Amino acid sequence: MNELHLLLILHLLGATIWVGGHILLSVVILPQVWKEKSVDKLFNFESRYEWFGMPALLVMLLTGARMAYLYNVKIDTWFAFETPIERVISFKLSCLIAIALFALSAQFYVLPRLKNNIEKLPLMTFHILSVTVISIVMLILGSFVRYGGI
Ligand code: HEM
Repeated sequence: MNELHLLLILHLLGATIWVGGHILLSVVILPQVWKEKSVDKLFNFESRYEWFGMPALLVMLLTGARMAYLYNVKIDTWFAFETPIERVISFKLSCLIAIALFALSAQFYVLPRLKNNIEKLPLMTFHILSVTVISIVMLILGSFVRYGGI
């Protein structure tokens, strides 16, 4: 097994945890929260998943960045959107920035208010669904690398 293969396995493990967790949150937990009009289940999932999800995202960033180097896409060409593999990586990094912004907004603005105001639930739902969709887009983008990029 070469280095790229090992990194890819770790990357895919990270993606499984991250994307799986968000799909679960979107299609299992969120509908329950809406139905019961109580955010307890959401906070319960959030506090337990955080310790699992964030390291997974970090693993994806580290393995992804190293794989980018193995594909000869170095940091000084990131965000140039000029060559096929580099475009995949630049789009993925742009998605990652969008996820980070949603996460910051959820953590520091939406969640503290949602605790005692259920009216923030649509806004929180928008955050969760956005992060889920962006994560699935990142997964699809990743699959293009073996076909030569985009
Ligand atoms: C939510 C975050 C991410 C998800 C869900 C994700 C998912 C995936 C998936 C499913 C693949 C396909 C592997 C294959 O075709 O066998 C992949 C490949 C790849 N990803 Fe990611 N990824 C994420 C973040 C990142 C980041 C942040 C980077 C770069 C900094 C990155 C760089 C790569 C590279 C270079 C490959 C190609 C590996 C190969 O086919 O040899 N990924 N990713």
